Amino acid sequence: MQAMIVLGIETSCDETSVAVLRQGSVASNLISSQLVHREFGGVVPELASRAHQRLIIPVVRSALREAGVTLRELDGIAATQGPGLVGALLVGLNFGKSLAYALEKPFVGVNHMEGHLYSPFLSEEPPTFPFLSLIVSGGHTMLTHVRAPGQHQLLGETRDDAAGEAFDKVAKMLGLGYPGGPIIDRLAASGNPGAIRFPRGLLHEPTLDFSFSGVKTAVLYYLRQRGWGSGQHVGPGDAHLADVCASFQAAVVDVLVEKTIRAARTLGVKCVTLAGGVAANSMLRQHLRQECQADGRRLIWPPLQYCMDNGAMIAYVGWMKMEDGMRSPLGLPAVANLRLS
Ligand code: KG4
Ligand code: ZN
Repeated sequence: MQAMIVLGIETSCDETSVAVLRQGSVASNLISSQLVHREFGGVVPELASRAHQRLIIPVVRSALREAGVTLRELDGIAATQGPGLVGALLVGLNFGKSLAYALEKPFVGVNHMEGHLYSPFLSEEPPTFPFLSLIVSGGHTMLTHVRAPGQHQLLGETRDDAAGEAFDKVAKMLGLGYPGGPIIDRLAASGNPGAIRFPRGLLHEPTLDFSFSGVKTAVLYYLRQRGWGSGQHVGPGDAHLADVCASFQAAVVDVLVEKTIRAARTLGVKCVTLAGGVAANSMLRQHLRQECQADGRRLIWPPLQYCMDNGAMIAYVGWMKMEDGMRSPLGLPAVANLRLS
């Protein structure tokens, strides 16, 4: 049987990403991160759509070239349908559908969250079913039980800010750059996580939902009480800045780890997966690994280029669905708040 070649397109937020997969293995995965949002401290939807429009063709061309594949050799095209910014989604989705129409090849629209759920299959040691998935990114915080391919149950999600969003907003308050997560992670390394006791949202509630707006507001009040104005720069050498970063990070990580371990124990799963941009966080990785190991569970996170938003995870889910004979109509709409079915 000949290997199936699938092109995957992801444009749900501020990454224009395109990948080529051969029978589920990555032949290329290009990610163009839009720098235009940096000066605003967050993603500006209108600017994101325009940047996707400018980047989509060059990124598709580069992904094909790197994989050594021509358009005619593609067996199918997958693109993100949602959730995400509608103007950003429309660029990749319409490009993918038009390409499928012109080439007369199958098209599948993919739920971005399903992409993150299956991204650990792009690791060298893929997970085994059933597993528990923690997805933490700038837009989402979700715990999902994945029983079998295509069979998942949402166990909990954030009721307000996503974990990455809280990192970005706290970084903005501290006058640090964007995205804030990696900067806070780096600064926290030299700080004391026990210096300030920030609130752990919903930690002692039975729900597996999350809430991160409380910790974010607590940091804001803490800074105000000490006369640090919003956006005012605190020197990078300031020892107390490292303590604020470490204490905030500990508050977020404690809740993520506690709820994940609680769910893993209740379900009795042997395997836990971690994905989304915040999966890069060193404290989260370390603590979750320790807790999983203590319980004899395997923890898997994909390489960083598959943790963040990427075309490979979209192509992977598209490939799984195409192998199952699934096709999407070319009238498929972009859906900003698409849920996991
Ligand atoms: O998955 P992603 O690339 O894009 C989406 O939001 O979908 O995730 C980006 C998020 C940002 O909020 C960024 O601050 C956060 O991931 N992030 C981190 C780290 N690296 C990226 N958060 C905490 N620690 C990190 N090392
Ligand atoms: Zn994402």
